[in-house]
Formats: sequence, structure tokens, C-alpha cells
Amino acid sequence: MKVTNIALAGAAIGLTNATPVAKRAITDADILNYALTLEHLEASFYEEGLKNYTKEDFMNAGMNDTFYTNLQEIAADEKTHETFLTGALSAAGASPVARCNYTFPATDVKGFLALASVLEGVGVSAYLGAAGSIMNATYLGAAASILTVEARHSAYLRAALAESPFPQAFDNPLDFNEVYTVASPFISSCPSTNGALPVKAFPSLTMSGSSAVMTGSTVQLMTGSGFNMSNTDDIYAAFITVTGPVWATLKSNGKGMFTVTVPKGVAGQSYVVLTKGNKMATDDNIVAGPAIVEVGSMMGSGSGMGGSMTTSWPSSGTMMPSGSASPSHTPFNAAPSSKGDMFGVVGAAFIAVAALF
Ligand SMILES: *[C@@H]1O[C@H](CO)[C@@H](O)[C@H](O)[C@H]1NC(C)=O
Ligand SMILES: *[C@@H]1O[C@H](CO)[C@@H](O)[C@H](O)[C@H]1NC(C)=O
Ligand SMILES: *[C@@H]1O[C@H](CO)[C@@H](O)[C@H](O)[C@H]1NC(C)=O
Ligand SMILES: *[C@@H]1O[C@H](CO)[C@@H](O)[C@H](O)[C@H]1NC(C)=O
Ligand SMILES: *[C@@H]1O[C@H](CO)[C@@H](O)[C@H](O)[C@H]1NC(C)=O
Repeated sequence: MKVTNIALAGAAIGLTNATPVAKRAITDADILNYALTLEHLEASFYEEGLKNYTKEDFMNAGMNDTFYTNLQEIAADEKTHETFLTGALSAAGASPVARCNYTFPATDVKGFLALASVLEGVGVSAYLGAAGSIMNATYLGAAASILTVEARHSAYLRAALAESPFPQAFDNPLDFNEVYTVASPFISSCPSTNGALPVKAFPSLTMSGSSAVMTGSTVQLMTGSGFNMSNTDDIYAAFITVTGPVWATLKSNGKGMFTVTVPKGVAGQSYVVLTKGNKMATDDNIVAGPAIVEVGSMMGSGSGMGGSMTTSWPSSGTMMPSGSASPSHTPFNAAPSSKGDMFGVVGAAFIAVAALF
């Protein structure tokens, strides 16, 4: 598996080199404002959550003192990132965007923490995906130092939710439009003084159903407005990874609904897009998504036992039979029983958001 990963990484580097440099149209100031847009969202989310729920609420949901202290630290970090990026933009003579109004679907501690974990994962993917586009080395260093902290937030929250803290050897990068697609449903209105970012959202793609997902599971996907329902020929599904798209079996069920089978090679917080054709999965041919799919492991409780998950993937012989939408066992044998609920909450959260917009 390791050998395969290295071989694939080599292929990805080749691809990157082949990408025309002239295509880069986004400036460093745009990227900092894009990062700031996400930090505003995250900072507002934690601020609201820590107002909504008391320490006791967290304790009642099974969290402890240390966790609550660390959660406050996470909230403070996001606020510091906000202030830092705002200052960096001002210092560079650019106009920093201000906070927007947000709509988060969380209504209790479980939903809040599940969404926190997803947002941290999106943050990691966003910084990772943007890194290669940052020209100024000083900004790149600053963005990288934020990225590593977001990654630790993500790992900590995932572990607290009994998910593997580092489910695979590579994190998944998302590009600007992909991130905007998953973030924009939470943004309800922004100050008119915020400059428009050169990003666009693809038609949304949401996973329905609340059961745990693993390799071989089938997942129902629902497209949102903007998706051309009469044009489902030549539509494919790809999971986005740093080493390139991992294509997955897709079935159209009509009315913009699809069923995708989770392929081998994706684990943890994963992103699936629908594409026109299966030669690439880029801004030029994505027709919906990404949808966020948490792909669990057959291994233990996310305590790190047995090392990386990719090496412990079930071989094809032990994959879930395709067509089983609801695997009968959860991916985390030692996980608390609330685990299924956590997945359910996130699934429900994104469905609720999809319904809103
Ligand atoms: C805070 O509570 C309000 C009212 O219930 C809810 O609409 C909002 O989504 C909650 N926010 C978070 C982050 O939990
Ligand atoms: C990068 O940004 C820093 C901070 O704004 C600035 O001092 C420096 O001159 C920039 N470097 C280049 C090569 O533009
Ligand atoms: C408190 O919760 C955190 C996060 O889940 C966990 O890592 C830690 O072991 C817990 N501490 C105690 C004393 O149970
Ligand atoms: C946010 O919502 C409030 C209350 O609806 C409104 O007064 C305010 O103008 C909104 N702010 C932005 C930035 O859209
Ligand atoms: C939708 O797809 C159909 C079939 O390819 C095409 O004829 C039609 O023009 C498309 N509609 C839009 C709005 O793009």
C-alpha cells in the first residue's frame, strides 16, 4: 500500500508540473481573504457554540474538563487566526473581509461537536489546497503554521468523537471552488463592503442517510439547485485525494439522485464530486459537490492501534457487499454507542443545510 502511495504521489507531481502556471488568476491577497472568510466562519461557529452550550452541557454529553478547556483554546485559536489574517491583509494594503452572518444547523452539543470536527477538516483541506497557489514565501509560511494547528484541532476533535485522528497517510486538498461549495451553505449574508472573492460554488451534493460508511458501502447522494438533471449521461463520481481522483462506481437514480460505492483508498473525512467525463476531476468538469463523506475504518476505536488505516484496509474479499446501504456494524468496534448518532447528526446537518438553500 505504501509503495502504491509513493508511486501515485510521483504521478501527482508529474501532473502538477504539467499544469500551466499562467492559469493562476488568484492573488495572494485573494487567498488571504479566502482564508479569512473561513476563519471568520470558524471563529463565529465556536463563539456561538460556547455561548449556546454550558460546560455542564458538554460534560453531560460525555466530555470532560480537559476537553472543555481545549475546546475553549480551539475557539481562541480561530479568533487569533482571524486577527492575524486581518492584520496581514491590512499591512499588505488590501481590504480584509469582515464577518458575515451564519446559519449553523447544530442544535445540541453532539451536533455542534460533529460539525466542529467537519469544519476543522474542511479548514485543513482548504489550507492544503491553497498552499500551492501562494506566491509569497512569508504568507506561505504563515498559512502553513495555521494549517498545522487546524490539523491538530481536527485530530483532537476526531479522537474525542472516537474517530481515527489520522485516518490516512495523506490529507485531502480542496481547491477554492470546492471549499466554497461546502462552506457557502453556512453563510447567510455578508456586509456589502466585503469584496467579492474570485470563487464560485458548484451545485451542492449532499449525502443522505445516517449510517456509518466504510469501504464498499453504498451512499445516497442528492444534487442541489444548478445541477442539470436532464444531463446525467457521462457523469462519474470521484473522491478527491492529493494523489488524484479515486473513481467510484456511480448509479443515477433519476431526479438528481445518485448512489455511489465508496472505493478503496479513501478514509476519514472524504470528498466526492460528480464530474462530466472521467478523465479528470477539476473545476472544468465538476458538475456537483463535493459532498462530505466520513469513511470509517474496520480497525479499533481510533486510538492509533495497528498504525495507519490504509495498511489495515480490508482486502477486496472482505469489502461490504455493494448494495448494503446500512452496514450492520459500526466501523469503530470500541466506540461509544453515541457514535452512530454523531454520524447521523452530521448527515442530518448537511441535509438540513441543503434543504435551507
Ligand atoms: C446556537 O443556538 C441557536 C438557537 O438554538 C441555533 O440556531 C444555532 O445553530 C446554534 N449554534 C451552534 C453553533 O450550535
Ligand atoms: C511578502 O510579503 C511580505 C509581507 O507583506 C513582504 O514584506 C515581502 O516583501 C513580500 N515578498 C515578496 C517577494 O513579495
Ligand atoms: C478527557 O477527554 C479527552 C478528549 O476526549 C481525552 O483525550 C482524555 O483522555 C480525557 N481525560 C480524562 C481524564 O478522562
Ligand atoms: C446580520 O443579521 C442582522 C440581523 O438580521 C442584520 O441586522 C445585519 O445587517 C446582518 N449583517 C450582515 C453582515 O449581513
Ligand atoms: C441540460 O442538459 C441537456 C442535455 O444535455 C441540454 O440539452 C440542456 O441544454 C442542459 N440545460 C442547461 C440549462 O444547461
